[in-house]
Amino acid sequence: MSGPFDLTGRLAVVTGASRGIGRAIAESLAEAGADIIAVSASIDPTRSAVGDAVTARGRAFEAFACDFADPSSVAALGARLRDRPVDILVNNAGMIRRAPAAEHPLEWWDEVIQVDLSSQFAFTQALARGMLERRRGKIIFTASLLAFQGGINVPGYAAAKSAIAGLTKALSNEWAAHGVTVNAIAPGYIATDNTQALQDDPERSRAILERIPAGRWGAASDIGGAAVFLAAPASDYVSGVILPVDGGWLGR
Ligand SMILES: NC(=O)c1ccc[n+]([C@@H]2O[C@H](COP(=O)([O-])OP(=O)(O)OC[C@H]3O[C@@H](n4cnc5c(N)ncnc54)[C@H](OP(=O)(O)O)[C@@H]3O)[C@@H](O)[C@H]2O)c1
Repeated sequence: MSGPFDLTGRLAVVTGASRGIGRAIAESLAEAGADIIAVSASIDPTRSAVGDAVTARGRAFEAFACDFADPSSVAALGARLRDRPVDILVNNAGMIRRAPAAEHPLEWWDEVIQVDLSSQFAFTQALARGMLERRRGKIIFTASLLAFQGGINVPGYAAAKSAIAGLTKALSNEWAAHGVTVNAIAPGYIATDNTQALQDDPERSRAILERIPAGRWGAASDIGGAAVFLAAPASDYVSGVILPVDGGWLGR
């Protein structure tokens, strides 16, 4: 295969690739031709489902465990990957804590801001330096509908994802002229571990479903196509964009 969506020979780092959306993105990028370095808090570097799926497609695969709640762990992985010729960075690792704002523990706020925002910037900074030197790179954040809306019971998460939208634009403004595009995908309601509490709540689950024009929750695989687009030459003139993949939710 060759063409605007071909990723043959490209090296992609995908964080949060052990399961859910990150795993689906890693598989889609591999399907399009990319070799994959997977990162997650607890991934087994020697054997993983995502690793099996990537190698079954004939691509190279490596994995590194790294806890984004621990800044020193992020710095160490950034240093380790600094000299690798990474073409694509998908900043997808993320967590959520649900409790009403009035009772939301400050420890949860700090944890979510660290994992979903501060470590995203630190890791991106570490890998972007090489991209800027090579004048080639595609950086993709996983934002959220809560980059546009406030959500319920998730103040830290809404603040972090709104900040990711701002960071996407800030980095794009500095780096697009140097051959590095920076974009974000804003997934809608996707059936993964991240949304298990909502799926298990019949009232919230029904209210969410009723508002989705597509008439169904999203699957992790629904995000893969947008990731391939933003990683591929097809999107070379697209930067600073927050792309909703939400079954039409934001149009309501
Ligand atoms: N599901 C949705 O509806 C939805 C909507 C909008 C945005 N998102 C965003 O999409 C991204 C992926 O979410 P998902 O739905 O696929 O969730 P998920 O199934 O819970 O997967 C989360 C992934 O992030 C990794 N991770 C979590 N905490 C980490 C930490 N401290 N350090 C390193 N890795 C960590 C996990 O690694 P381990 O497996 O090793 O724990 C896992 O790979 C997140 O940024 C989330 O905020 C999800």
